[in-house]
Amino acid sequence: MRVIRTVVELRAWSRESRTAGKTVGLVPTMGALHAGHLSLVRAARESCGVVAASIFVNPTQFGPNEDFAKYPRTWDADVALLEAEGVDVVFAPEPEEMYRPGASTFVEVAGLSERLDGASRPGHFRGVATVVTKLFLAAEPNCAFFGQKDAAQVAVLRRMVADLALPVELVICPIVREENGLAMSSRNRYLSAEERQHALVLKRVLDAVAGKTIEGEWSAVALVEMAWSLISAEPGVRLDYAEVVDWATLEPVDVAKPGDLFAVAAWVGTTRLLDNFILV
Ligand code: PAJ
Repeated sequence: MRVIRTVVELRAWSRESRTAGKTVGLVPTMGALHAGHLSLVRAARESCGVVAASIFVNPTQFGPNEDFAKYPRTWDADVALLEAEGVDVVFAPEPEEMYRPGASTFVEVAGLSERLDGASRPGHFRGVATVVTKLFLAAEPNCAFFGQKDAAQVAVLRRMVADLALPVELVICPIVREENGLAMSSRNRYLSAEERQHALVLKRVLDAVAGKTIEGEWSAVALVEMAWSLISAEPGVRLDYAEVVDWATLEPVDVAKPGDLFAVAAWVGTTRLLDNFILV
């Protein structure tokens, strides 16, 4: 497995691969890898001739009071996991390689970027859209793999790829969970043993909402209210948002329908966790 640190080198590798008749898969990550990330790598491995995974803790998607400095960085373990999965290239640029001093060009997906996580984290999706565009320009992948875990991010990136007619296919992979139902996240490392127990309320909320729709309750207000009441009853957990939205536009709906996104974000202590499911 080759470690590449510069855009020029990554682009050269990608072009050589395609000249050799291989499709290029890209799995963008911020490292601190877990089974969720590895599921994307496996999907890429199955459908692409060569696979690059990027590890870059992207400063522009963190707000000033967020966890950029303390975000887990586990380089040696990450490299070992990617190597074991048969990844061909790890792209791990320094911040100055991705953002030259004085860089003032950003990609902004207007509207969608202010919804869900974008409402709680102003500027977050501008940072995501910008870095993913830069990763696409560097890796020139045929396919790029993302997790449904970050469902609003998926909506923003789908719109960006469509609006800019970027020549890349986005492949969205299902949420990987721990056995107890907790959605895997690099930020789960922040949780104490007790907080991990409280965090399970998120999956309980999703199951309860799914159960309600099976009983015939599709009013978004009713579904969201149930989420509120379950989460307020859980000690140490504070709801950030619970919403039913159209997955393409992230606009809230009054009456939910199959295909809509039920998304929840909550603070467990000082850790912000996300979960969601697509209504069926
Ligand atoms: P990161 O949080 O490291 O996640 C990298 C990818 O792994 C994302 O597409 C995310 O949705 C996916 N992922 C995370 N947890 C998952 C789980 N439990 N099951 C399935 N997939 C999961 O998302 C980012 O990084 C960044 O915003 C990035 C796209 C790399 C841009 O900086």
